[in-house]
Amino acid sequence: MKVSGKKILLLAGLCICLAGCTGTQRETQRTSIRIGISLYRGDDTFINNLRSVVEEKAKEYERENHIKVTLDIQDAKGSQNTQNNQVERFISLGCDVLCINPVDRMDASVIIDQAMTAGVPVVFFNRQPVEEDMNRWDQLYYIGVDAKETAVLQGQMVVDLYKKHPEKVDLNGDGVVSYVLLEGESSHQDSLIRTEWSIQTLKNGGVPIEKITGGIANWERSQASALMEQWLSAYPGTIELVVSNNDDMALGAIDALDRERITNVNVIGIDGTTPGLEALESGKLLGTVSANKELYASAVIELAASCAMGKEPSEEYPLTDGVYFWTPQEILIGESEQLNKEFQ
Ligand code: GAL
Repeated sequence: MKVSGKKILLLAGLCICLAGCTGTQRETQRTSIRIGISLYRGDDTFINNLRSVVEEKAKEYERENHIKVTLDIQDAKGSQNTQNNQVERFISLGCDVLCINPVDRMDASVIIDQAMTAGVPVVFFNRQPVEEDMNRWDQLYYIGVDAKETAVLQGQMVVDLYKKHPEKVDLNGDGVVSYVLLEGESSHQDSLIRTEWSIQTLKNGGVPIEKITGGIANWERSQASALMEQWLSAYPGTIELVVSNNDDMALGAIDALDRERITNVNVIGIDGTTPGLEALESGKLLGTVSANKELYASAVIELAASCAMGKEPSEEYPLTDGVYFWTPQEILIGESEQLNKEFQ
């Protein structure tokens, strides 16, 4: 059969049109996505706060985009093994994307292997996998806060207060601010960097600090409370400042201070959790550094949804190196200090 050049052109045009239509149809057919979320510990206050906002943002996304978003949220209860099994189950249930708050940030390899084999993208958050793991696939992302920035802001709030009212920081007026330090999990990127830069910022800002002692309380209020109780009896009347890697441990220190009816010691935290903000309002917590949880959670949902639908990540949440979204944070300091500051 002889086919003219004109007919071939027409046929080619028809094919292109059909292919295009199928593509559009595929996009418009997408009316639902399923997101598998695993939390390192559901009883962690900050993670729990974040989870609630993530759930709200998923509903908001549904309303705005007319796409049903199913969230399957699991608690790994501090076990990497449990989390690996959860990931396996998410994949077998047909999740389009995974949002993982890894238990062991040094050992995300099993999760990555499973996800790569199944072709399911992963958005890690809060506990940053090592770079070597993140570089293994172009469908791996991380959302968190810049730990150094958090620490500098935490230190800065005391520097500012010291410059304005040194007597509120150096309580006994001896020219030295004696502090104790409460640290989070030793393997968590935030603990080490927060500790280093918070203290460095105090020194750089001219606060004459001297460390009395410090300890690891693994982000936990009860562990911090027990440590603080020991320190109060070992160093009576000397502690002027408690620098804590997070709000929950700061609250633990406040619990111990309350038991001893000590009201003048300054306590600073990080996170801006619900109980942290309550302590700030009541004047028990001097200040905290809070990540913008609305943005944090929106970034998780928006990035996950883009991945699920095979779309480019939204420019509203700019990714550093195409991989990392750093959530903005702000200093929140007690009303009485009149030092409310916003950092973006
Ligand atoms: C930190 C947060 C802590 C704890 C930890 C869990 O960023 O400040 O309170 O939630 O993450 O990974």
